[in-house]
This record gives sequence, C-alpha cells and structure tokens, in this order.
Amino acid sequence: MATLIINCKEILQIRESGITKVSGKEMAHLPVIKNAWLLIEDNLIAGFGTMDTCPNLPDATIIDAAGKTVLPAWCDSHTHIVYAGNREQEFVDRINGLTYEEIANRGGGILNSAKRLNATSEEEVYQQSKLRLEEVMQQGTGAVEIKSGYGLTVEGELKMLRVIKRLREEYPIAIKATFLGAHAFPAEYKENHTGYIDIIVNEMLPAIAAENLADYIDAFCETGYFSVEETERIMTAGQKYGLPAKIHVNQFTAIDGIAACVKHNALSVDHLEIVTDEDIEALKNSDTMPVALPTCSFFISIPYTPARKMLDAGLPLALATDFNPGTTPSGNMNLVVATACIKMKMTPEEAINAATINGAYAMGLSETHGSITVGKRANIIITKPLTSYYQLPYAFGSNLIDRVIIEGKVI
Ligand code: NIG
Ligand code: FE
Repeated sequence: MATLIINCKEILQIRESGITKVSGKEMAHLPVIKNAWLLIEDNLIAGFGTMDTCPNLPDATIIDAAGKTVLPAWCDSHTHIVYAGNREQEFVDRINGLTYEEIANRGGGILNSAKRLNATSEEEVYQQSKLRLEEVMQQGTGAVEIKSGYGLTVEGELKMLRVIKRLREEYPIAIKATFLGAHAFPAEYKENHTGYIDIIVNEMLPAIAAENLADYIDAFCETGYFSVEETERIMTAGQKYGLPAKIHVNQFTAIDGIAACVKHNALSVDHLEIVTDEDIEALKNSDTMPVALPTCSFFISIPYTPARKMLDAGLPLALATDFNPGTTPSGNMNLVVATACIKMKMTPEEAINAATINGAYAMGLSETHGSITVGKRANIIITKPLTSYYQLPYAFGSNLIDRVIIEGKVI
C-alpha cells in the first residue's frame, strides 16, 4: 500500500461523509483545520487532524507543505473539452462588433464546430482533446464532466462520446459523459425540428445506450434552439435509458425551462445568466443543482448569474468552466472561482464550496469527490505558500498551485 502524509498550514473543506451539497447560508461556511496533517493511502483519503495528533508512520512518504494550503481538487461539472479546431475567427468577429447570435445566424457558432468535428478523425479529436484535459488537471481539476454536441449526426456524436470514453480509460481524473445531441439544429433540419429530434430519440440514443457511452443527457433549451416542449421530449427519452438530465437553460432568455427541468428531476440546470423570481421558486426544495459559468459571461460579455439573489433565497449553487471553443475557451477553475468572487459577489468560502462539493453533486460524484472526507478519493490541490486562502481569488492572474494529487498520485 502506498502511504503519503502531507503536513500543511491548513486544510480547507473538511466534511463529514454523507454531506453531498451545501445550500444558501451554509455556503458562507468553509470548514478549515489549521496546522494540519492529511493521510493518503493508495487512492483514498485515510485521515487528517491537527499536528499534535500526527501519526508516526515510518513507511509513509512525507510531503512537507509548511505554509501551504490543502484543498479538494476542483470539480468541473460542465465542459465541452472534446472538440476539433477552434473559433478564433469568431472571437475577432465579436471584437469587431458582431454578437454571438449574429455569428450563429451566419452558420457560425455550434454549427461551425460541428462541421470541423465531422471532418476530423476520431484519433485527431482525441489528440487535440487530451491536451486540454492534461492542462485542466495541472490547473487543479480532479473531476470533470464532458459533453458531446458538436457531432449533430449519429456518427459524429458517437465519435465524440468514444473519445470521452478513451480519455476516461487513459487518465486518472474522474470523467462523466453527457450526450448533447440536442445542442443545435443542423441546417437541413432548421424547418424540421421534429425530424432531427426523431433522430436523437430513435437513432442516437439507442446507439449510445448500446455502447454505454453516456451518463447524462443535455439539451440547449433556449430561444432559437430547443423549446421547452422539445427539451421535455429529450429529457423523457433520456430517462427511458436511465440518463438523468443536465440542461443548458436561461443563457440568453427565460422561457420557463427551469420549472420543466425540475419537473423532470434534472440533476442540474446550467448557465442561468437570466433568472426570474419564478425560476428561483421552481428550484426551491428541489434536488436540481443550479450551475453558473462565469467565465462564459466574461468571454462573450453577457450578464453574470445573479448568485447573491439565488443564495439569499436559500438555493445551492455550483460553479463550472463551460470549457468550449465558442463561448469559453478556458478550463481554468481558478479563474472561475476568482470571477465568481469579483463579478458575482460570492465570498471566497461560497465560491470554493460551489467549485468543489456542489460541483461534485452536479455530476453525481459527491459521494466520492468534492471534500476532504475519510474514504473519498485523494484528489488534492496543494497551493504555494499563501498569506490566506483569500489570495486564491484575490490574486486572480497568478498560478498559486504548487502540486496536484489525483487518485493519490502527484501528477
Ligand atoms: O454552453 N450554450 C450552448 N452551448 C455552449 C456553447 C456552444 C458553442 O458556442 O460552441 C455553451 O456556452
Ligand atoms: Fe455549455
């Protein structure tokens, strides 16, 4: 058995087992122990405490992290890491005055990425995507959800999900796969929505289920994309194959999609840049986790999720990157946490809760990830020496990570 002991200035996010998410006022509290040790046995957290109780284990490897902070690795519950090429030209087009919507209406946006994905081999998509996965692991992410949704054909969607499966086999990071065939309507189905949704339901889903390629189902529920009724049809079809829903909703407009997602027991509702009082009421007392994506708001200059209003209403909130070529070409959870503090007025404690335990919940991993809990996976960030953990969001442009441990191994 490999045994590792870390001696550090403090450990953040110590939780009893059984706590799977935190809500409202509880999010202001981040349990910390100072002057602490953490014991790792193989891939699991085996114990922790204050230095006066540190066990003497002659065979253990010791990491001296004096002055440094230990916290759970980030849990990024919403990404589109698997894609081909990039959309740098659209970035410049937006600088020159076009909006995301105008670019999409010209055949850019999601359809641009779908064209590239379908023209690229599975091997090449894997080679491009694995670099992004390696990058986010170095940035402290220890669990990640990855969506399909740039195929929009049976073969293209299967190609993306097979790449996600291969990433899961090749890397120690926990990966959940989400089928997002309902990301946009291919041009030839612009006037025939039912025709495309029939393909999703009758062709894509059975093929994906046969290869066991997805854990969740998603749809882009938005004006000009999938209506609430169309999204409900997708969620119902997913349920038949045992795929809970995680839905893109309320990015640009509020169309009562959130209530429909809650009705279908969605695991999460994501984006939420526009949130009405009715949306907040629908989420109260539900098991659905709201997920905010602040670096998407930053990159395409749209409103930020009204986190204060939601937390003050008692809701939980998770934070994720949305890493994708169009709206967020970054998978840096450190920047997400900082942006949530700076632009959404979340406190550092709230943002760290949202990026760890609540992120784990939003991808069905909070029994094993997202907190320092005996028996959970040894997925750990060790920071550089910090004056206080406030420095993590405060010094937003600095790399404050010294080491990342995933499944008990320094990566
Ligand atoms: O989460 N909103 C929908 N989908 C992605 C972006 C898609 C794209 O532009 O490629 C998102 O922001
Ligand atoms: Fe997204």
